[in-house]
Amino acid sequence: MADLNTLKGKYLAGIAAAADEGALEEIRLAALGKKGEISLMMRELGGMAPEARQAAGAQLNVLKDEIDAALRARKAGLADAALDARLAAEWLDVTLPARPRRVGTIHPVSQVMDEVTAIFADMGFAVAEGPQVESDFFNFDALNIAPEHPARQEHDTFFMARAEGDPRPPHVLRTHTSPVQIRAMQAQGAPIRVIAPGRVYRMDMDQTHAPMFHQVEGLAIGRDISMANLKWTLEEFCRAFFEVANVELRFRASHFPFTEPSAEVDIRCSWAGGQLKIGEGNDWLEILGSGMVHPKVLAAAGVDPAEWQGFAFGMGIDRLAMLKYGIPDLRAFFESDLRWLRHYGFAAGDVPTVHGGLSR
Ligand code: DAH
Repeated sequence: MADLNTLKGKYLAGIAAAADEGALEEIRLAALGKKGEISLMMRELGGMAPEARQAAGAQLNVLKDEIDAALRARKAGLADAALDARLAAEWLDVTLPARPRRVGTIHPVSQVMDEVTAIFADMGFAVAEGPQVESDFFNFDALNIAPEHPARQEHDTFFMARAEGDPRPPHVLRTHTSPVQIRAMQAQGAPIRVIAPGRVYRMDMDQTHAPMFHQVEGLAIGRDISMANLKWTLEEFCRAFFEVANVELRFRASHFPFTEPSAEVDIRCSWAGGQLKIGEGNDWLEILGSGMVHPKVLAAAGVDPAEWQGFAFGMGIDRLAMLKYGIPDLRAFFESDLRWLRHYGFAAGDVPTVHGGLSR
């Protein structure tokens, strides 16, 4: 039988020198595996005389236990060392500020909707909503647009299909946010102060028109709300929205079936050097339609026109976004071009507020 001390020295040295768990496993197999050196020696015990077998068996068992213990200890040591190395490599200073990572951007239309909402919320307007597939009663009749009224044609309406033989007038894709006025008054009555931002649809498509676009409607009804209140509200809005100290608005007499009197509102601006500046210069830019809500509209919404009066306005959100952020083509708004979105988009965490700044 080989000298057990020599064997012991050989294996313990090998174990101490093993660099990883794979090397350790090789040593274990060489010594204690089924065909390992020590295992084979144990098998040879069977052919020995009983006394010699007892002595040699005990010695072999001791050696086996020693090697086994050394293997386990080395294995644990290697695991500890690996963990230490990982901990050292993955050390992290949790007190460092987070690194900003772009996770997409806020679309300019969403940004402007949030800005408009923040400004009017600050003036006490709540947000109202209505459906995009609208009945012709809310989209037209209740707004004093009779079936034969030319405004119905002007709106280039998309009609929803009805089942064949169904005599009811078809629903429409709402052509403006004005029907939300009716819904809000029906639901809440007067007094009321709401804005209604949302999608609208018209059959139109060029550099400044898309078949789907966005408007925001405004409505304020009380006992003595006048045109003067409308003017102040809109001036205040424009100052806040365009983030300029001075704005000048021009009210131009106009006509809408749902308001009387009606006014289109222009804002003073300059195009000097091809760049739009709001609040200075000698040009005027139309930004919205408005007026005093027609008594028939109040009545259609269940509000008594003998007791209540107020103003309404409607403006294009996409157009506001183009003006404020210098975006030349409306069609690009809805093409989902990632380069465009990265260029014109806003950081996801920057929520516009009146006190914190709208577009910083
Ligand atoms: N609904 C009109 C449009 O889409 C905009 C508008 C004009 C809304 C005057 C109003 C208003 O509330 O008073 O062209």
